[in-house]
Amino acid sequence: MKRVIYISQPSTGEEEWQATREPLMSGWLTQGPKVAQFEQAFAVRHGVKHALATTSCTTGLHLILAAMGIGPGDEVIVPAFTWVATANVVLYCGATPVLADVERGTYNIDPADVARRLSPRTKAVIAVHLFGLCVDMDALRRVVPGHVAIIEDAACAAGASYKGVSAGGLAAAAAFSFHPRKSITTGEGGMVTTNDSQLADTANKLRNHGAAISEEQRHKGPRPYLLAEFNLLGFNYRMTDLQGAVGVVQLAKLDRFIAERDKWAAWYIDELSSVPWLRMPIRPTDGTHAWQAFVVFVDAEGAPSPRNDIMEQLQRAGISTRPGTHAVHLLGYYRERFGLTPEDYPGARDCDACTMAIPLHNRMSADDYRYVVDTLKKIA
Ligand SMILES: Cc1ncc(COP(=O)(O)O)c(C=O)c1O
Repeated sequence: MKRVIYISQPSTGEEEWQATREPLMSGWLTQGPKVAQFEQAFAVRHGVKHALATTSCTTGLHLILAAMGIGPGDEVIVPAFTWVATANVVLYCGATPVLADVERGTYNIDPADVARRLSPRTKAVIAVHLFGLCVDMDALRRVVPGHVAIIEDAACAAGASYKGVSAGGLAAAAAFSFHPRKSITTGEGGMVTTNDSQLADTANKLRNHGAAISEEQRHKGPRPYLLAEFNLLGFNYRMTDLQGAVGVVQLAKLDRFIAERDKWAAWYIDELSSVPWLRMPIRPTDGTHAWQAFVVFVDAEGAPSPRNDIMEQLQRAGISTRPGTHAVHLLGYYRERFGLTPEDYPGARDCDACTMAIPLHNRMSADDYRYVVDTLKKIA
């Protein structure tokens, strides 16, 4: 049988299946006790005061911007190499996303370019910890004025840390993703974290249509005639208790997942450093990389064939790969709406063309890793 190694596979099974029994049997299916348990455990693990579960990282980021009151006339700086959601959420608020270039070494936002893109209208900067590597927050903070909020897009960074502080606690607020390509999953799902109690309170209301009290509070309350007061224009971004139950089980495995990924990432770096046309991702010494993905840079000059060719060769050998992510300024909607050209963001353009994620996840065997390395070396 032909060997197939997927780019990513969720590590879910019997325990997650069993965990869904309780909400299914109790009949409490929407946001309730299991979501609360997941939120508490997530806040403890990431060293933050507040954690609010959402339907995705995208809705989590939207919630943060809305809770901060960001709207028309405001600008929010986002990296040009990121999943499109990071920029889209700014448009959802009627504000303007201003792209900043990224560093080719870390794939993260370049603080020097952020400094160039600041304007009197800048209200926030979204720092994306791409593929699980935290942004150099000290360098970013040095260029961002105090009145401009820094928000973490920690979609890929559950369990990551920077200089001893967990992702999620590195800025004003953060949003995480539990999409199945992330290291822990609830199918779809997200989490907002913050140490700002007022922001948490507003985000909490906005996630439930702007209701001043939760469904659970209302159901448990003594006055059946009481409906919540709605003083804000909110959304329905509530996570279900089925997902919350799965999240509790997955979160308990997060550190083991990351430790295993880190071990194999170090091994990949060791084995593949001898391939001159492949540049390895950075494994930080002052923090933890969450290794949502292992993304290499294919040197366009030195490679035996173009990146896409190499990806096809690997595919034929049964090894799935993907581009790291995309450059937002090259996407049709952004190109047209903002009149952008590839040269506007050369770092993002090159990352778009040259990055390649190779398989790294918790369902791979030692033999699978060896096969990936051997196959890549044969191409060399
Ligand atoms: C950097 C980044 N931001 C945001 C998102 C959106 O996450 P979600 O699918 O949970 O909305 C993703 C998802 O891939 C991502 O990689």
